[in-house]
Amino acid sequence: MSSADLLITGATGFIGFKVLLGALQEGYTVRAAVRSSEKGETLASHPKITASNKADNLSLIEVPDITRDGAYDEAIKGVTYVIHLASPLPSPFLDPQTGIYEPNIKGVSTLLVSASKEPSVKKVVITSSVFANTPFPPDPSQEITAETRVPDLPGPFDSILPAYSAGKIGALNFTERFINEKKPSFTVVNVFPGFVFGRDDRALDAKELYAGTNRILLGAITGQSAPNPMPAGATHVDDAAKVHLAGLKEGMSGNFGVTTVHDFNDAWTAVQKHFPEAVADGTFKQGNQPTVPVNWNAHQTEIDLNFTFKTYEDMVVDVAGQYLELSGKKA
Ligand SMILES: NC(=O)c1ccc[n+]([C@@H]2O[C@H](COP(=O)([O-])OP(=O)(O)OC[C@H]3O[C@@H](n4cnc5c(N)ncnc54)[C@H](OP(=O)(O)O)[C@@H]3O)[C@@H](O)[C@H]2O)c1
Repeated sequence: MSSADLLITGATGFIGFKVLLGALQEGYTVRAAVRSSEKGETLASHPKITASNKADNLSLIEVPDITRDGAYDEAIKGVTYVIHLASPLPSPFLDPQTGIYEPNIKGVSTLLVSASKEPSVKKVVITSSVFANTPFPPDPSQEITAETRVPDLPGPFDSILPAYSAGKIGALNFTERFINEKKPSFTVVNVFPGFVFGRDDRALDAKELYAGTNRILLGAITGQSAPNPMPAGATHVDDAAKVHLAGLKEGMSGNFGVTTVHDFNDAWTAVQKHFPEAVADGTFKQGNQPTVPVNWNAHQTEIDLNFTFKTYEDMVVDVAGQYLELSGKKA
């Protein structure tokens, strides 16, 4: 196994790939934990990696089942830093209990237990979610911040959003109990993104843009009508990656929200403003994704890290622009 200073889980994903590219650019030597050798080969041979001049700083390790005790024991050997992004998103193709809820919690618990056995580890950054602090269903009269906590929800779960929400709540609560009880020698940073949108660096054609959460935004500008309302809270993928990497820095610990309040259907106003030709020729059509208001306030992160989050309009421009580029149309 090659030596590395940073272990990243979930680097094949939308946010994880952006974090991986940023980490390589910042000079980290990265070990990416992947589910299979095929996934690893696809990752390592991606044009963004091979063109980065940093491909030699990336190595791979297979972790086929993150829910297995000791899953990360080998992967974590010798690293100083860990960024843990691997977890299932809400998906109708997964069993809510075993495919969404359990891997969200077990993935975090196996990782923390492995980290506590490896003395080289100094920092663990965990990708949580605004769902971890938000009671389900959300109550818009309550302000939520990165410090808000929700008690564990009793399962079992037979629908996907409650399973995901309970998984993120359970993983966060597990993390805090683990720190209090085990007092590990490493520091933990929790990052709380909203729905993440922006250019997907993995995508090589327009179809691949639907692999991640960008498909929700694309639905709202390509004439689709979503059956279920979604809670407010949006995050530019660049900001999500920036906060994860900032979490590795000396002195950073605790909880960082990275989300702005939004309304999904404002995407239509943004494409009308920025892409009038694509609206006129019918490439973009008004869709409908209803929004459940949530009063999530992540301003403290902007203060602490001294930058301003990108807006929902920025996210729409980037996603719609990449969609046009990859469809061979003028952006
Ligand atoms: N996207 C959002 O809107 C959003 C918002 C808040 C928080 N988050 C959190 O951010 C993290 C990354 O999300 P993303 O948007 O990048 O998702 P994504 O594109 O679906 O990527 C998920 C990553 O996790 C891995 N993964 C999924 N299920 C797994 C399992 N059961 N065992 C092992 N690995 C598994 C995937 O590996 P494969 O490539 O092998 O499938 C992939 O690398 C997740 O923890 C997610 O909950 C996402």
